[in-house]
Amino acid sequence: MSKQPKRVVVTGGAGQIAYSLLFRIASGDMLGHDQPVILHILDLPSMENVLEGVKMELEDGAFPLLKQIIIGSDPYKIFEEIDLALLIGSKPRGPGMERSELLSENGKIFITQGHALNEVAKKEAKVLVIGNPCNTNCLIAMHNAPRLSRKNFHAMTRLDQNRATFQLAKKADVDISDVTNVTIWGNHSATQVPDYLNAKIKDRPLTNILQDKAWLEKDFMELIQKRGAAIINARGKSSAASAANAIIDAVRSLYYPTPSQQWFSSAVYSDGNPYGIPNDLIFSFPCRSKGDGSYEIVHDLLSDDFLQSKIDLTVKELIEERSIVEADITH
Ligand code: LMR
Repeated sequence: MSKQPKRVVVTGGAGQIAYSLLFRIASGDMLGHDQPVILHILDLPSMENVLEGVKMELEDGAFPLLKQIIIGSDPYKIFEEIDLALLIGSKPRGPGMERSELLSENGKIFITQGHALNEVAKKEAKVLVIGNPCNTNCLIAMHNAPRLSRKNFHAMTRLDQNRATFQLAKKADVDISDVTNVTIWGNHSATQVPDYLNAKIKDRPLTNILQDKAWLEKDFMELIQKRGAAIINARGKSSAASAANAIIDAVRSLYYPTPSQQWFSSAVYSDGNPYGIPNDLIFSFPCRSKGDGSYEIVHDLLSDDFLQSKIDLTVKELIEERSIVEADITH
């Protein structure tokens, strides 16, 4: 029996990330090559012509799995009955800007989109926020969509996980697929904590193989923390194709069972977490999924004083970001 189509909304539909993403969703790369999809694509009213063009190109792809394309600028229409929301659209960060500067601008978008999710999305809809500052934007959307379970909300740290995995594989001179269990803790920002302590190479502790502590604690950590900014400096624009690729990976991690003994990173609601992270933050943790769209936080990862001091900094930053948007999340 053929499957019911899944309705996937992509916001920022006229932008660069969406342009790299939509065709891969339509081809089945994200939800499976047997899963029909209906794309709901949102952008600002001023972008409607571009959306028309994107729709025409999607039609020209003649994707057998793509059952319908709905475009528009009203989230209350575009979010109707959706199963999955990929919230990309936000004001992008320019050269030299920090994420916190974007908070008040982007907060407004995520209040409206939270309300729209609350009113018209399926109750079980999963939400992945990519638009920066994504952790706090996600917190805003979640608080404004109380009908949806808080466990349905994620902010994306998969791009950071992928970046860290590549750099560790390169340093150890092994295949990318030999490096597993890379955790990103905290905020998708320059305070994020890429964790080498719990990472593995060929199922053995990575630190048995990579013993250059100075490189791990400084060069590696800073490279990952500042990679987004380095790409903005090089391209004059935020990462786009690698971000789209990370969205595919992040969603697949929820809809396919996590391989035994492994985990992936996603920023999720912190209440009840086993690592003493304060409540009411969207914080990146090691997660596992049974493949049904849900997740559990993995317990008992190792820590040390160095890692803990870095985690304290990213917690502090997220608390500061939350205090800036207090009015957007209290009712
Ligand atoms: C990235 O990590 O590449 C993006 O989130 C861009 C940014 O604003 O840092």
